[in-house]
This record gives sequence, C-alpha cells and structure tokens, in this order.
Amino acid sequence: MDNRPIGVFDSGLGGLTAVRELARILPEEDLVYFGDTGRVPYGGRSRDTIIRYARQDVAFLGTFQPKAIVVACGTVSTTALDTLRSEWATPIYGVVEPAARAAARLTQSGKVGLIGTKATIRSGAYERALAALRPGTQVTARSCPLLVPLVENGRYQPGDIVAETVVAEYLAPLKDAGVDTLMLGCTHYPLLKPLISAFMGPQVALVDVGEQCAQWVAGQLAGQGLRAGRDRPGRHRFFVSDDSGDFAALASAFLGEDVGDEVAEIDITVY
Ligand code: DGL
Repeated sequence: MDNRPIGVFDSGLGGLTAVRELARILPEEDLVYFGDTGRVPYGGRSRDTIIRYARQDVAFLGTFQPKAIVVACGTVSTTALDTLRSEWATPIYGVVEPAARAAARLTQSGKVGLIGTKATIRSGAYERALAALRPGTQVTARSCPLLVPLVENGRYQPGDIVAETVVAEYLAPLKDAGVDTLMLGCTHYPLLKPLISAFMGPQVALVDVGEQCAQWVAGQLAGQGLRAGRDRPGRHRFFVSDDSGDFAALASAFLGEDVGDEVAEIDITVY
C-alpha cells in the first residue's frame, strides 16, 4: 500500500484523457497533474527542446514525491522517455507500449492507422512497438499539427466546421488505406473522438492512448502492491504554466467535475 500521489503531465489539456481514466478506475488515488500550457504545443519542436521541457515537467512533479509518473503525452513518450527513465528512480510510464498492445489486440486486418504530432511520427516509436508485438502490421501514419491547437482552444465539439474540415483532410488518406484500427497517438486527440469516429465510420476501432496508459499503470501499481489504501476519494490537483482560468473551464467540462479551486499556475522554468 502506498498513499503517495501519482504525477501526470502533458503539454496542455491532452493528458486529461489519462487523468479521467485514472480517476475512474483508481478513485482513491491522489493525482497531481501538470499541463505546460505556457509552452504547448510540444509536437513541432526539436528533440532537444522536448527533452529539456520534459525534464522540467518531471522535476516539478518530483517535488510531490510521487510513487509513479505518467507521461500522458505522445510526443514526450516517443521522444524523451528513455532519457527520463535513465535520470529518475521513480517509475515513469509512457503511452506507447500500452497503446501498441491495444492496437495489436484490436486489429483484424493488420492495417493500422496512426496519427500524432510531427515529433511522434518522426520518432517511429509506435511503429517499432507494433512491429515487435504483431510482426507484419502495416502502419499508415500521418502527423496532424493543427489538431492540438484546435483542442487547446476548445474547438473539438461535433458541428464545429473548422475542426470537422481539418479532421477530414488529415484522415482521408488513412480512410483510403482501409485501416480497421486507428491509434490516436497524441493524448489531445481523444477529445475529438466523436468527430474522428463520425469521419472514419463505426467499423474503425479507435485507440485512446491516454486511456490505455491509465489502465496499464493501474495494473502495474496493483502488481507491485503500490495502490493507495484509504477511505476517502483521492484529491486531484492541477498545475499549469499559463492561464489557469481557461484551463480550469476546459478541464472541468472534460472531466465532468469542477476543478476550478484545484488549479494553480506555476513558473516551470525554475525547475
Ligand atoms: N498531448 C501531446 C501528445 O500527446 C500534445 C503534444 C503537443 O503539445 O504538440 O503528443
């Protein structure tokens, strides 16, 4: 039993897809979330910059003495995970492995689509994980740089003509390729799930990497005897590096709980 919190981070709102699932399946756990809203998006940046930002994000979460850190960001998971793990004794979990396992399980045809940020697609990390788990899988990959800014600006609701147009343009080649499974390789993208699903059709299974990662982490903590043991619901705290008001409104809507009093702004550059 371990009552220390779980730290979770992303460049912005996207990691909330993991938080929502963690809160659902591990309601007794304390969660500390950091969204680097002052520096989002990470996905178009160089490897060196992504590693520098990720080191600061982990250093900030480290001040809470977490029992585990969840990299709820496809970009950091594909680009900086090995570096972070080599520098910290705390277990650090990324989204790639759990998501690849889900895709390998779900695909019937072996034709898998992958969307992510530029850095994620450049890394080839999801493809490598899939090739190891299910040799011969054909992956059609596409980077979608406009999706993160859309989500960060709250433009992800069905009926949003701009979001629908951008989603259709990005996903058309994957639809044409006949994929039966689509990995939403960036944790922001599941907020667009209704739009993506409407475009791809009900026959295409969508892999939510944040959700898969949360389930994986829950299994790992249980296996190591590190689950919290308490009779109150876990506390959920949120920190951002800019504009906590905007974040609080969007996070409350997405999580279905009012997080306004639990959101604070910090200076990430000092870590
Ligand atoms: N949620 C991050 C990811 O999963 C977004 C990256 C970005 O900030 O561009 O890749």
